[in-house]
Amino acid sequence: MTYKNIVITGGAGFIGSHVVRRFVKQYPDTMIWNLDKLTYAGNLENLKDIDQSPNYRFIKADITDAALMDQLFETHQFDGVIHLAAESHVDRSISHPMEFVMTNVVGTVNLLNAARKIWNGHFENKLFYHVSTDEVYGELGDEGKFLETTPYSPNSPYSASKASSDHFVRAYHHTYGLPIKISNCSNNYGANHFPEKLIPLMINNIMNKKPLPVYGKGENVRDWLFVEDHATAIDAIFHRGNIGETFNIGGNNEWKNIDLVRLLCRVMDTKLGRSEGESEQLITFVGDRAGHDFRYAIDSGKLMRELGWQPSVTFEQGLEKTVDWYLANQEWLGHVTSGAYKAYYDNMYTNR
Ligand code: NAD
Ligand code: DAU
Repeated sequence: MTYKNIVITGGAGFIGSHVVRRFVKQYPDTMIWNLDKLTYAGNLENLKDIDQSPNYRFIKADITDAALMDQLFETHQFDGVIHLAAESHVDRSISHPMEFVMTNVVGTVNLLNAARKIWNGHFENKLFYHVSTDEVYGELGDEGKFLETTPYSPNSPYSASKASSDHFVRAYHHTYGLPIKISNCSNNYGANHFPEKLIPLMINNIMNKKPLPVYGKGENVRDWLFVEDHATAIDAIFHRGNIGETFNIGGNNEWKNIDLVRLLCRVMDTKLGRSEGESEQLITFVGDRAGHDFRYAIDSGKLMRELGWQPSVTFEQGLEKTVDWYLANQEWLGHVTSGAYKAYYDNMYTNR
């Protein structure tokens, strides 16, 4: 199926920018509209290599503005939606839950309503694709993996807001027949990742010889996926997945936080010509995250079997590419760590 006008929400963010780039390059006959409010996490610098492409346009807009969403869908006749815009950081959701309700829940329902109105029951060649997280399934113990059939059990305000948005998307399919797809992905890493999240925060701090704040004992486990492989999975699901279905996306790549931070220290000591073990001395155990989920792990078997998706890089290759990108893009880091983010960082890690 080909689309004329695909709107990608949150396209100036970390994952969204990789999805926009992939779609602009892969589908030159489709207009790709990047709709983003440009919060602290949105950065058009992420897209400067493709922003002059004839099939790319940017719209600065807030998805919590229902009237504006209706108007934009009417004006541009979007036939495909890939919805990534969200407040995405768990720690921020603990201090400011209402922002997560507004963007992640209300914003999603506004987009569903706008699509439903403009498509008006003519659902052929239309698609609303909602990008979600594995955190909706709650936490795992030492064993097992999340399947598409795992019951929802979100634990943080962030994951509760994402779970709620998933339920609304599914309900619009069941009730109104809206053509939808949902994917639930594990932790991403790669270029353009805002340095409030574990991997880019540690890379930034190692570079600057600042303390490396590991929550609790560092025993919590995450399943890491290279962001460009998330973008290829979204492309495969968007174009070839069955309507109404959910797909889990993961890296089959579990790491305890402390082991991952130690690995990053070793990789960066080599790259920076530092002595062996130098950066590990920066590791500082700090107070744990409230309600910190112990372990996430994704079973991506359905996506691999049904759509033939495979990650393109090993974790070692992906991590090396990521570290190299941050070392080569210190100007990008400087821009995003100035101003408001600096105040957030000082507040978050002082007296923790
Ligand atoms: P991000 O925080 O880097 O980017 C979010 C983007 O959404 C930013 O560009 C921001 O400006 C925009 N935005 C926020 N509020 C908005 C609003 N009200 N209106 C319009 N735009 C708004 O997030 P990310 O890490 O790239 O995550 C993108 C999506 O993928 C989210 O839905 C997230 O839940 C999901 N996800 C993330 C991960 C991960 O590891 N980062 C994993 C699985 C799923
Ligand atoms: O699982 C998918 C989710 O992954 C996405 O839905 C979220 O948008 C994304 O932010 C991410 O959530 P996490 O909470 O897992 O990611 P974060 O990078 O914040 O933390 C990863 C782990 O590292 C977690 O166990 C907390 C820990 N941590 C994090 C930070 C920022 C630390 O130990 N120290 C830190 O300074």
